[in-house]
Amino acid sequence: MDDRFAGWMAALEARHLAELTFPEVSRALRALSSAYVERRATLAQGAALDGAGKRAAFALFYGPLHYLLVRHIVSALPGATRAMDTLADLGCGTGASGAAWASAASAKASADRPKIVGIDRHPWAAAEAAATYRAFGLSATTRRGDIATAKLPRPAPIIAAFALNEMADAERDALLTRLVERGSAGDRVLIVEPIAGFVARWWDQWKKTVEAAGGRADEWRAHVELPAIVAKLDKAAGLNHRELTGRSFYIDIRN
Ligand SMILES: C[S@@+](CC[C@H](N)C(=O)[O-])C[C@H]1O[C@@H](n2cnc3c(N)ncnc32)[C@H](O)[C@@H]1O
Repeated sequence: MDDRFAGWMAALEARHLAELTFPEVSRALRALSSAYVERRATLAQGAALDGAGKRAAFALFYGPLHYLLVRHIVSALPGATRAMDTLADLGCGTGASGAAWASAASAKASADRPKIVGIDRHPWAAAEAAATYRAFGLSATTRRGDIATAKLPRPAPIIAAFALNEMADAERDALLTRLVERGSAGDRVLIVEPIAGFVARWWDQWKKTVEAAGGRADEWRAHVELPAIVAKLDKAAGLNHRELTGRSFYIDIRN
């Protein structure tokens, strides 16, 4: 665990366990994980983040897991960590995945750290993402918006992690079309999603388009050391994240 990650975790724990007890957060985590797995139709209405308990569970549990998985992915994808000026973080949530890529990229580049533009439709996300980017020493703009139609910075690498599966089919297809175009024009594009079956329908279809544009599709299984609070929540909520899994599309025609 590096210092910035440890500092981020400590701040998350202090902030989200200030008003709620551990049992309240672990109960909310159970409800949140069931919303992701069994009640997916409710996600489009923002059900995942509709209450302090679920927001705390998301920030304290899924945020760090997404950070760790994306860090693993960008370290393994050839060229992904080369320097960048600005990263667009679509459906940024708490900013965890964008922060993971931008910090990994800046570590190998010059002393400058990349800027981030985080976009999310949920009002809670902007402030939380701003705190995450700050914790990693990244300067950032966060704004509320629909990623289906938002204007994106360019040229800039783009990440959309665990967000596209919350979109309606037509909107996701339109956004994926734009992202593949951006990739074909030379921007690095990284899309990360769960391996779970509910993503598979559109994943297999888009895999061909991504590969035809010079991109790649990967599946990931990472064994990582979980921060203590994450491991404790995992156990208390009856989950099992000793192995982190995910799948990605990555386009980087300049590498
Ligand atoms: C599961 S969270 C993932 C957050 C973050 N990318 C991460 O990896 O931790 C999905 C996020 O996407 C956002 N989202 C879903 N559909 C969106 C849309 N059409 N426009 C903007 N944000 C969207 C949700 O509000 C939520 O914050």
